[in-house]
Amino acid sequence: MSNKEDIKRQVRAAFDFRMAVRVYNDQKIPQEDLDYILDAAWLSPSSIGLEAWRFILLENEAIKKALKDASWGAEYQLETASHFVLLIAEKNARYDTDSVRESLVRRGVGEGEALSKRLVTYESFQKNDMQIADNPRALFDWTAKQTYIALANMMTAAAMIGIDSCPIEGFNYEKVNSILAQYGLIDQEKEGIASMLSLGYRLRDPKHPRSRKPRAEVIFNDQPR
Ligand SMILES: Cc1cc2nc3c(=O)[nH]c(=O)nc-3n(C[C@H](O)[C@H](O)[C@H](O)COP(=O)(O)O)c2cc1C
Repeated sequence: MSNKEDIKRQVRAAFDFRMAVRVYNDQKIPQEDLDYILDAAWLSPSSIGLEAWRFILLENEAIKKALKDASWGAEYQLETASHFVLLIAEKNARYDTDSVRESLVRRGVGEGEALSKRLVTYESFQKNDMQIADNPRALFDWTAKQTYIALANMMTAAAMIGIDSCPIEGFNYEKVNSILAQYGLIDQEKEGIASMLSLGYRLRDPKHPRSRKPRAEVIFNDQPR
């Protein structure tokens, strides 16, 4: 059994290993490793436990080819990655939809007064706090934002076992959605692409060292600046 310091070292090593990989070698990720990475998405947290997402493991070469023309940020990745995950977010996840109601039932809130009370809270949350209830774009952005947690968890899980990845939002959303609808992967009325993730094994190490702002420029305590 690893102790805490060992685990911290392993997690830190995974963050140091992870970089955005744009060109992969031809090694394929074993199915059990893919399942482990997808579990990281599945088990990710979501606002109000909504899970307003789906993760599509893309293996069909024809779909990848179609997506390439609409995805400037994924050109080489679509050609070379072992696997591709599409992160799909639900549209119109309003407080008064089955989706929200079902998420509460799934979480054991029950059907009665407790459920109604919670829905009133969520109505106010979406109307007054986030001010997204009557704006389809804002509602989609809300669920899409949550998929980024799953995106990050997949990247970290992959890096922990030496698998490379790259998050992708460099594509035309309208075109990608219509391609996915055309191949029967999404219902455009109800959902849309939020981001993509390429997975595989790097062809070569990076030419340049990782660059980050100095830690002190992004991590603060609560003293006034
Ligand atoms: C939300 C998001 C979207 C990104 N989209 C793309 C993309 O479309 N194509 C690409 O090659 N890299 C993409 N990247 C990778 C970033 O350019 C990269 O993570 C950043 O430059 C930092 O480098 P590093 O990941 O190697 O540390 C994206 C990263 C994030 C977090």
